[in-house]
Amino acid sequence: MSDISINFDKAKEAAAKEALTFIRSNMVIGLGTGSTAKIFVDLLAKKFFSEKLDIKVLSTSSLTEIQAKNLGLPLTQIDKVSKIDIVIDGADETDMKLNLIKGGGGALLQEKIVASNSNKMIVIVDSSKVVENLGKFPLPIEIVKFGCNSTKNQIEKMLYEIGYSNFSMNWRKENDNFFITDEKHYILDLHLKKIKDPSFLNKIINHIPGVVETGLFIKIANQVIVGDDKGNIKLIKEEG
Ligand code: A5P
Repeated sequence: MSDISINFDKAKEAAAKEALTFIRSNMVIGLGTGSTAKIFVDLLAKKFFSEKLDIKVLSTSSLTEIQAKNLGLPLTQIDKVSKIDIVIDGADETDMKLNLIKGGGGALLQEKIVASNSNKMIVIVDSSKVVENLGKFPLPIEIVKFGCNSTKNQIEKMLYEIGYSNFSMNWRKENDNFFITDEKHYILDLHLKKIKDPSFLNKIINHIPGVVETGLFIKIANQVIVGDDKGNIKLIKEEG
């Protein structure tokens, strides 16, 4: 393991530990997906047993569900609860306005459904994820299999129409096969380098038939906890 990954681990752990301070008994907690969320879930399980918390958790992917189950956390499902108090999740990029790119792990759809139905979304990241403009990280778009290349062509056409010219797109692959999401769709990774207006782009892509959802999370996160390699944290909060 390189020194850099060790430092990222420390940064992720610092953010995950801070997120733990939001957790109380009687909460329904959404669990995110990815390496940072995984650290949070491990810490949550320790807190759950040591403080005998009365909580319920629900996951945003099959991977996190397996982790939560193995740790003995009390799992429920989104349609079995009347409210989700909080979701703690990672992100691939965040800007200073709390707009995110998510879906690097392919779980963007469940993540967005859970986050949109939660009273609060707390995002935990290491400092490398904070950017001035979203888009350096390829934007994942979840797409139905039927007519997927036609949908891709529609996205390409629309991007030219709204002024993007220097971009590329590729189907996400896993061992030479299409990557398949938990909901059995494909993922198209869109390399835009710089997203000019994330909210507009999210709306316009979501209008194209065949698109299930984009990895742009706009006005969903309430706070981002940013950990650094020394184990310190900074907060990005909502204005006002
Ligand atoms: C999963 O689909 C993603 O949205 C993750 O939350 C995101 O990729 C962050 O993952 P890491 O914490 O592993 O960077």
